[in-house]
Amino acid sequence: MRLYFVRHGIAEDLATSDFDRELTKRGRRRVANSAKVMKRLGIKPSQIYSSPRLRARQTAEIVADALGRGVTLSEAVNFGFDRADVRRLTRNLSADDEVMFVGHNPDMSILVSEITGVDLSMKKGGLARVDVIGRAVDEGELVWLIAPKVFDALQDSAKPAAATSGGKLSTPAQKLPATAQPLHNLIKHRWSPVGFNRERDIDRETLLSILEAARWAASSANLQPWRFIVAPRSDAAEFQKALSVLKEGNQTWAQYAALLIIAVAHRYPKPDYRHAYASHDLGLAVGQMVMQALDHGVYAHQMAGIYPEKARETYQIPSEFEPFTAIALGYRSEGLDHLGESQREREAAPRQRKALSEIVFTGSWARPAAFLSAGKA
Ligand SMILES: Cc1cc2nc3c(=O)[nH]c(=O)nc-3n(C[C@H](O)[C@H](O)[C@H](O)COP(=O)(O)O)c2cc1C
Repeated sequence: MRLYFVRHGIAEDLATSDFDRELTKRGRRRVANSAKVMKRLGIKPSQIYSSPRLRARQTAEIVADALGRGVTLSEAVNFGFDRADVRRLTRNLSADDEVMFVGHNPDMSILVSEITGVDLSMKKGGLARVDVIGRAVDEGELVWLIAPKVFDALQDSAKPAAATSGGKLSTPAQKLPATAQPLHNLIKHRWSPVGFNRERDIDRETLLSILEAARWAASSANLQPWRFIVAPRSDAAEFQKALSVLKEGNQTWAQYAALLIIAVAHRYPKPDYRHAYASHDLGLAVGQMVMQALDHGVYAHQMAGIYPEKARETYQIPSEFEPFTAIALGYRSEGLDHLGESQREREAAPRQRKALSEIVFTGSWARPAAFLSAGKA
């Protein structure tokens, strides 16, 4: 089990009672920053217990909001919080669970010191991660202790860099392109995984950004012939519906994606006008979507393997639109035990490409462009 201990953020000195001391503006801001970093660290407590004192509760609520969790107020985490309280509060949790406690000093620092055997003092807004074996919460290892200043620095480093704003990318070495040419970081890292993280969902903000990227693609005559049917895993019924439209081979791995999208082309903008470039434009929009997703650390796998007519029926898609492809999106999973042998092999295989000389010509068909040869302009 993984235990997270958070000391409340900076609070007002004065209030009608100690119980009602609120976080200061700075305290709130810092906790909000820390919470964003906690999210990036992938902290996912199944329970967040907070002392009912206002400054702890506000701290817990800001963190819980960022992590998409709820808060349980508990007197146990109030002054006097100790090992017996941790035992009681974790009694019904499983060995794989993560749990967070938001409370006060000196009890929090004393408690973490007792569990880990490390003499430490937690700053306001600080966070300690303690791993224990199974559910034996009396003794554990201090994995790290983050002071608020470090959170601030980590938050700064998460701000968009010039080229890539960098959600966390986790492309394995064999999937990076074997090329001497400089490529944009996102192009380098894009590939089509089958191993998706089965727990981490794509939040609304990220999803909107991904869809917005598609919206701003170029298109022939600005006809914008793309339409997207979106099914997040969190909506089990919709997700199943979208999954059922995929060919079975794709279902085997796409079932673990965080999100499925059915991409549809507007093929007949007018009854007598077939838009020949609709699929080109749809592909372009999906291309932008894929790159924007990767900028958030979300990987995409496109699929032609769908049943278009089943999609039409399932979603009552009018005849002037053509269900075209599907896209599975999600964070990557390092562990691939949930996949079959062939999929694991696929994940381990290097990516192959035709040589530029096979695809870039000058003068006449299939004559490789002269500039491709070394030493030529
Ligand atoms: C339009 C399109 C359709 C695809 N259809 C499928 C599919 O049905 N099933 C699948 O597993 N992969 C599918 N792929 C993924 C390709 O196999 C993959 O992009 C290709 O092998 C290159 O690998 P990379 O994307 O990792 O560079 C599709 C990709 C595109 C762009």
